[in-house]
Amino acid sequence: MAMSLAGKNFLSVLDLTRDEIEEVWRVAAGQKSGEISAEAQRQVAPGRSLALLFDKASLRTRLGFEVAMHQLGGHAVYLGPTEVSIGQREAVGDAARVLGRTVDAIAARLFSHENMQTLAELAGVPVINAMSNREHPCQVLADLLTIREHKGDLKGVEVAWVGDGYNVCHSLLLICGMFGVSLRVATPATYDPHADIVAKAQELAGESGGTITLGTDPAAAAKDADVVYTDVWISAGQEESAIRRRSDFREFQVNEELMAHAKSDAIVLHCLPAHRDEEITDDVLDGPQCAAFDQAENRLHTQRALLTLIFS
Ligand code: CP
Repeated sequence: MAMSLAGKNFLSVLDLTRDEIEEVWRVAAGQKSGEISAEAQRQVAPGRSLALLFDKASLRTRLGFEVAMHQLGGHAVYLGPTEVSIGQREAVGDAARVLGRTVDAIAARLFSHENMQTLAELAGVPVINAMSNREHPCQVLADLLTIREHKGDLKGVEVAWVGDGYNVCHSLLLICGMFGVSLRVATPATYDPHADIVAKAQELAGESGGTITLGTDPAAAAKDADVVYTDVWISAGQEESAIRRRSDFREFQVNEELMAHAKSDAIVLHCLPAHRDEEITDDVLDGPQCAAFDQAENRLHTQRALLTLIFS
């Protein structure tokens, strides 16, 4: 193994260099294809433990980490909201100190990114952001690997983001900026991504040859796109504003009409879970252009590769 991420946190896309992310994809592709054998994978983390500190529900992220640790010869311990409940049953700093003395790494899904940072500062072992209110960096490792698998390259690919400028959008902005992927973000006016993240993504795009634009017109974003990507209108913790959000986002559905603006060979991404016939229609999610289930499978491959490099 040429490169190691031993001791590194992954709270933001920005915590890894371009070369390190390329290495995650190289290892993910090798493990996925079998070029890196199952036996070699089992030698990566024997006797190592990963805590999954999750304050929100999860299918893909939890499953990916649990299966990955098993395949790498180690062990994952799931700690859900009823076990820990950061900030209510236990202070984040106390939980960090206990976890750091007990496990070799932590993957945390917390509401607050500040708590994620405190966890990383105090745990003394690598912390992976399994989703916070600011970023979802593990998601976009899988997203760009999926785009590369379908489109052959990342350079010059045009991606339309249609929906909320929230955590997944933030991480997508940063990784697209790093890799020269052109990203057009269309959100309702008051749901645009954080200005500091947009500025950083535009700075990175200036270096990599990509472009990052924001707007409020889904059709304009989707025009001639290679990839159309959406996410739920109501994320966990936003249920109280569900009625307003359904109204604010009603023009932002990914449906056949919107897909007609994209290239004929465009793929559709959705980080899932999907709210069918809300942000995406059944015919698109079940249709031939949908790559959301390849994307979901790649959550396992990229998370296993990330752990492989952390434990190497
Ligand atoms: N996309 C994603 O993070 O899925 P889960 O919430 O099921 O982990």
